[in-house]
Amino acid sequence: MCGIVGYIGPKSAEKVIIKGLERLEYRGYDSAGIALLNGDELNVYKKQGKVSQLKKLLAKNDSGGHLGIGHTRWATHGEPNDVNAHPHESGNRRLALVHNGIIENYAVLKNALKAEGHVFESDTDTEVLVHLIEKIQDEGNLTLAKAVRLALSRVDGAYAIAVIDRNNPDIIVGARKASPLVVGIGDGEFFLASDATPFLEHTKKVVYLDDNQIATVSLADGLHIRNTNNEKQPPFIQTLDLQIEALEKNGYDHFMLKEIYEQPQTIEDAMRGRLMAQENRVRMSGLDEYANRFIRANRIIIVACGTSWHSALIGEYLIEDLARIPVEVEYASEFRYRNPILSENDIVIAISQSGETADTLAALELAKSKGALTYGIVNSVGSSIARLTDAGSYIHAGPEIGVASTKAFTGQVTLLTLMALNMAKKLSTISNTYFHTLLAELERIPTKVKEILEENEAIKYIAGEIQDRPNALYLGRGYNFPVALEGALKLKEISYLHAEGYPAAEMKHGPIALIDENMPVIVMATNKSAYEKVVSNVQEVIARKGSVIAIVNQGDQEIRAIADHVIEIPDTEEPLTPLLSVIPLQLLSYHVAVLRGCNVDQPRNLAKSVTVE
Ligand code: G6P
Repeated sequence: MCGIVGYIGPKSAEKVIIKGLERLEYRGYDSAGIALLNGDELNVYKKQGKVSQLKKLLAKNDSGGHLGIGHTRWATHGEPNDVNAHPHESGNRRLALVHNGIIENYAVLKNALKAEGHVFESDTDTEVLVHLIEKIQDEGNLTLAKAVRLALSRVDGAYAIAVIDRNNPDIIVGARKASPLVVGIGDGEFFLASDATPFLEHTKKVVYLDDNQIATVSLADGLHIRNTNNEKQPPFIQTLDLQIEALEKNGYDHFMLKEIYEQPQTIEDAMRGRLMAQENRVRMSGLDEYANRFIRANRIIIVACGTSWHSALIGEYLIEDLARIPVEVEYASEFRYRNPILSENDIVIAISQSGETADTLAALELAKSKGALTYGIVNSVGSSIARLTDAGSYIHAGPEIGVASTKAFTGQVTLLTLMALNMAKKLSTISNTYFHTLLAELERIPTKVKEILEENEAIKYIAGEIQDRPNALYLGRGYNFPVALEGALKLKEISYLHAEGYPAAEMKHGPIALIDENMPVIVMATNKSAYEKVVSNVQEVIARKGSVIAIVNQGDQEIRAIADHVIEIPDTEEPLTPLLSVIPLQLLSYHVAVLRGCNVDQPRNLAKSVTVE
């Protein structure tokens, strides 16, 4: 969480950084700030609230300057006010620093610095770091890079930082440990940022810093990287294949809506080069490379957080159902701290849109240390999880900017389906005919998603019916149970209504007590295998005066006759159901949030990339 941007070059640093911060607002939007160097003049502007508030503040000041750093914050230490906003300055006003992460031993460091006469203005852990760098720099009359390196050797925790120095107006120093930082190399200019989106229109040449690396960028001297042991590190320059249009709303009111509508394309992109229906096979290069490990695996453990955890649950159903390999799904945050039993015969799959979620990363590190094979299902190219895993597959959904995940979810489920099919073929756990049927049907999924998107107006109408209800219950069975969880999460995240997802049959064991005329119950009723049982659940809700919104297959008569509202989706093979049944739930939560006047793309308190524990 938190986004950082740095710029040095011929352009207006203020303009480049502000635009960059707007692109990084998905990482947090509690406050924003910027430090600009103009000659040896250092000006810092910061403001509680979104980047738009900072822009208003800057409009009143003539800042100038071609070097600067900026920050958009998701608060950890200290409430989100102007004082706690980054950048933070050293006591001598010579240095300014922005930080993403947490300095865990800040209290000890702060007390020691206070005892030496340092005075702190904010409640943040970050301000301690800039004072520590100042102290080390002053004591040894050191260069900025050296002072940063020595200071970081005394710090525990996670960080991506960028620091500037009034006495060295041609350099920015950046460093990372467990929080992402990318250097962009332009034509006579350099960028530093939490990801590449802030500078994509200026350059696609990037260097992803590794943990414990410190980068110095300077117009006079170029890019130099050292590690915390002061060893030189040759920069590995990559060219990104990412288009600027992917970062714009392209006429949609919100990124979330755009991303929902992109799904026919993104599902197709996830299958491209992998689903070979004509050849009756699924090619997954990462999985094929480790085919023996997968075939002989004792079990597969999938670790993830949030929406990615829901796709992991669908992965469990798919892999066990089709490939007959035992699967366990774990919240990454629980897995990493509960001393799990792991061996070299286990495979740990991490699912992550951002590829930067701190708990998922730590779970993977634990799995690696125990010798398990690690596999990543990731969206962000070059992200930490993608680089840490032994093998993996990108979902190729393009940047997902709405905080509520939509196209990344269906991309993840598509990949898990392909993986389950690939393994099923290798292990001969399903018939060739069924394998072929599933492949052919998977090819039709993007078209079927398009058909569901045409129901948008009808779904908007239903959203109007539930927008003022304080609670909602989502029920599903089998493959639709994780979809019910995901539907409830979507509603909570962006409309701030309380919602719960439950296995439909579990309703009787508690939630049924909540049902009355004020409780909308969203029932996933597309399963063929348990259809009659779902009908009974619907009857139980109706008997208690709950209102039923049912997701049914086209042509359904039985539930249509009893439910308050139905949303029809095309029929498909049961293991592929989640790819369709989640779409109306995404649209439903989107419209409820819009009708309630909520900020759909930047819901309160949330951030898209959770780089703290
Ligand atoms: C945050 C986001 C969610 C996301 C979760 C896991 O909570 O708001 O949308 O599902 O993190 O993120 P990841 O990037 O690892 O999928």
